[in-house]
Amino acid sequence: MIETTHIWQVDPERPSYDELQPAVEVLRRGGLVAFPTETVYGLGADALNPEAIAGIFEAKGRPQDNPLIVHVSSLDMAYSLMGNPAEQPLLQQLAHRFWPGPLTMVVTASSRVPRRVTAGLDTVGLRMPAHPVALALIEQLGRPVAAPSANRSGVPSPTSAEHVWDDLQGRIEGIVAAGECKVGVESTVLDITVVPPVLLRPGGVTPEALEEALGRSVVIDRHVHVPAVNSEVIGPVRSPGMKYRHYAPRTPIVLVEAGDGHLERLRAVVDKQLAEGKRVGLLVTEEAATPQSDVPTIVMGSKHRPEQIAQDLFRHLRAVDNLAVDVVVAEGIDDGGVGLAVMNRLRRAATERV
Ligand code: TXA
Ligand code: MG
Repeated sequence: MIETTHIWQVDPERPSYDELQPAVEVLRRGGLVAFPTETVYGLGADALNPEAIAGIFEAKGRPQDNPLIVHVSSLDMAYSLMGNPAEQPLLQQLAHRFWPGPLTMVVTASSRVPRRVTAGLDTVGLRMPAHPVALALIEQLGRPVAAPSANRSGVPSPTSAEHVWDDLQGRIEGIVAAGECKVGVESTVLDITVVPPVLLRPGGVTPEALEEALGRSVVIDRHVHVPAVNSEVIGPVRSPGMKYRHYAPRTPIVLVEAGDGHLERLRAVVDKQLAEGKRVGLLVTEEAATPQSDVPTIVMGSKHRPEQIAQDLFRHLRAVDNLAVDVVVAEGIDDGGVGLAVMNRLRRAATERV
């Protein structure tokens, strides 16, 4: 246990040197600090310090075989962590288009990267976050920062400093607080060690945008569409994070996939649960919500604005347990654009899919 977890309030747009210095000093001596990125809050440690990295796994209760993303503030910093120069042109091409931003590229790791970071793999995920606070923090430290999402393992990722506090107070030295995250779902993870590149986790950068930038199609790993339910593993996984049930409230979630007659299917599932005497809650789009219904409802936003649904998704998933019901029936949205990332998170939070 750590005596006090500090909260350092900083300017989200123009954090000053002095505002960030206490957090930088904690990182420098191997401590853990949560900080905002444009996707979700990260739990940061000096990426080149193996003991500091071990602390991340402990604070989160993270499985040891799940590797961490390393955050950089410059292309040179990224190159210094790469073990295969042949991968640099593609990284540079995609960085030019998407960095800083919600794209993590998996590359061959150089020997500078501690094996604790990569969980023993010979590859490492690199990303330059598009948040002034994250970039300034890395730059001021002058070293790459390893950071998973700053939540206890298995629960929804944090998109505000309050979420981090709820999960990690007393387990980390401080939180750099700077408001809510704009993207709301984590970065897209793309393996560029293979040709063609393989999308391992959908996120803030859409497959459509990647394909446009690459001028070729991207392979989407099948686990993206058919995630493991309740830790059941469907064949070997290339990104260890894919095999765990994740983003999950305590309340069971039945997910009704989008598609033909999905509102009828949704109603049928609700009626069946009610007939079994269960208290039912809903997590639905604005279009499907019926205001006068006495079923407790969380409205996710409009299905025509998946970016908005993405931004608020984890806040809504965290609110599911507050409904105090036996089961929540969730409405799926279309897989297009950032909808793929939203659906990947909902599928992994679900206990059952219809
Ligand atoms: O948006 C984000 O990516 C946030 C912010 C803080 O940057 N970070 C984040 O980290 O979501 P985390 O640890 O929650 O998720 C990292 C994902 C996991 O699914 C992990 O398995 C995968 O990236 N990953 C990391 N390194 C990898 C590697 N070398 N090969 C394959 N997958 C990797
Ligand atoms: Mg995570």
